[in-house]
Amino acid sequence: MTASTANVALSAWVDHWMRVLQPDAVHWCDGSSREYDRLCQLLVDGGTFQRLSDTKRPNSYLARSDPADVARVEDRTFICSEREVDAGPTNNWRQPAEMKATLSDLYTGAMRGRTMYVVPFSMGPLGSPIAHIGVQLTDSAYVAVHMRTMTRMGTPVLEVLGDGAFVACLHSVGYPLVDAAGRSRPDVAWPCDADNKHIAHFPETREIWSYGSGYGGNALLGKKCFALRIASTMARDDGWLAEHMLILGITPPRGEKRYLAAAFPSACGKTNMAMLIPSLAGWKVETVGDDIAWMRFGPDGRLYAINPEAGFFGVARGTSHETNPNALATLRENCIFTNVARTDDGDVWWEGLTAEPPAHLVDWKANDWTPASGTPPAHPNARFAVPAAQCPSISPEWENPAGVPISAILFGGRRATNVPLVTESFDWEHGVFLGSIMSSETTSAAGGAVGKLRFDPFAMLPFCGYNMGDYLAHWLDIGTKTHPAGLPKLFWVNWFRRDDDGSFLWPGFGDNSRVLKWVVERIDGDAAAMDTPIGRVPTVDAIDGRGLEIAPDVLAELLTVEPRRWREELPQLEHHYESLGEHVPAQLRDHLTALEKHLAE
Ligand code: GTP
Ligand code: SPV
Ligand code: MN
Repeated sequence: MTASTANVALSAWVDHWMRVLQPDAVHWCDGSSREYDRLCQLLVDGGTFQRLSDTKRPNSYLARSDPADVARVEDRTFICSEREVDAGPTNNWRQPAEMKATLSDLYTGAMRGRTMYVVPFSMGPLGSPIAHIGVQLTDSAYVAVHMRTMTRMGTPVLEVLGDGAFVACLHSVGYPLVDAAGRSRPDVAWPCDADNKHIAHFPETREIWSYGSGYGGNALLGKKCFALRIASTMARDDGWLAEHMLILGITPPRGEKRYLAAAFPSACGKTNMAMLIPSLAGWKVETVGDDIAWMRFGPDGRLYAINPEAGFFGVARGTSHETNPNALATLRENCIFTNVARTDDGDVWWEGLTAEPPAHLVDWKANDWTPASGTPPAHPNARFAVPAAQCPSISPEWENPAGVPISAILFGGRRATNVPLVTESFDWEHGVFLGSIMSSETTSAAGGAVGKLRFDPFAMLPFCGYNMGDYLAHWLDIGTKTHPAGLPKLFWVNWFRRDDDGSFLWPGFGDNSRVLKWVVERIDGDAAAMDTPIGRVPTVDAIDGRGLEIAPDVLAELLTVEPRRWREELPQLEHHYESLGEHVPAQLRDHLTALEKHLAE
């Protein structure tokens, strides 16, 4: 099929890769619902998708991945800048030419017997001055249909692109159906090349080369690869921010609507907070985005944020009517689920969806499952993909091409100890320091151990396309680019503090609105706070506890900064700063020294 584009660079790029990848056919995605339906039917016919019950879950599908391809693979993710120092000590660096040579071998003939999809997509509302365009080549129809849900995808993107520049995104699952000698093999439900996964980024040339995985952030290249790793580099070069943050609007009973952004590591509560239903009467939260924020200074010197995505790719487990009713309402139709369990009446199930599991399920590995099985029926990183427009709490501003003005930014993670429920930074620089020492217990969103404490500055450690020290310097620099009154206030939050028995001290979810209320009141300057060595913490009565069954001493504990326990954490903090390397700005090292001094007093 010939290219339906006048963009010379784009047609040359597609032609080049057709010759290397050797697909049987090329399909330029137009983004129509007819095309979506046709590709989904193709996936059903090939055994990748099962159609769910049309009465229970209209127009929705279930996929089961290969058990060797269930999450992002950080140890197979590479930043390929010319100089190693530009990737920094926290990224896997490879010399670009070497990585391209390795991958070119793997890509040669990788699409034999398959169709190559050309997927033009916009990250951000089409034509928004904050948006950017990419084109992904992929041999996975599963990826192509996800790209339609997760981005603005199809022919209109090519029209906006014209002869402009695009981020080149190359993807193959690495499972050709015909070998070099012309011998065929049958396809499988989840093709991948599990032993040879490479998720490679070339920030200087704005390219992504992904091979071997079909799952999530490894394969939906608009998301983590483009909107964070490549975009963070673009943002550093051009004075903006590309961040792993949700965006929400919050309106008090009487008062002005404010927009907040919040950075939490993977599977630490962004989707939940973005769709939060306040337990406080009269308060309202509206969803702008649940995973990624791109922010630029507006003409008034404030930071304006867009959600570059068009859908939610959310964690299924733990999503319920109690925890996140808006997410469940969003999931009523037009969904794709991966690695959840299937019920006997053709619907889906995961741990936490209902208090009692059904008597019989088919689990994510396609085995019969009963409560006696003793294995989890859904994979812990099982996900749903669904259009954001279906969310009942979606903000009327979510597609505003100019973005929404951000009044506060929250940083948080899973911390069983030490980190209080909420802490306000003393100023921008101190807030950047707090963001730089953020840490969290690891989750199933990436391969590797779960529950280990890991320092994860700004929740960006796995997603920064350049040197983390330079990234922190960029954040400091952003703080000098406008009047301090135009900058968002910076806060630290932690919903995950536990008691000695391991139970959460804070109810979380809708009750997090009580923390947001304090944040909004701090923006207005009228809520009580006390200074601690790590920042300003609410007094116990400054948190609205009406209707909350929580003992005053538990709330006090949630707000406590214990110098003794913080002193114990200092060696880890120092080690963390060392691990970030020599580019950590001196101002931030000074903040660490000041904290040490403060805690010693
Ligand atoms: P990614 O999509 O991986 O970036 O994750 P996320 O940050 O959007 O996390 P998400 O909102 O999907 O939450 C992940 C898990 O944390 C789910 O199992 C939630 O139930 C749980 N969670 C979210 N908010 C809270 C909270 O306030 N308290 C507690 N205890 N758990 C929460
Ligand atoms: C995350 O891991 O932070 C996600 C899921 O949002 S993925 O798209 O797979 O990166
Ligand atoms: Mn995420």
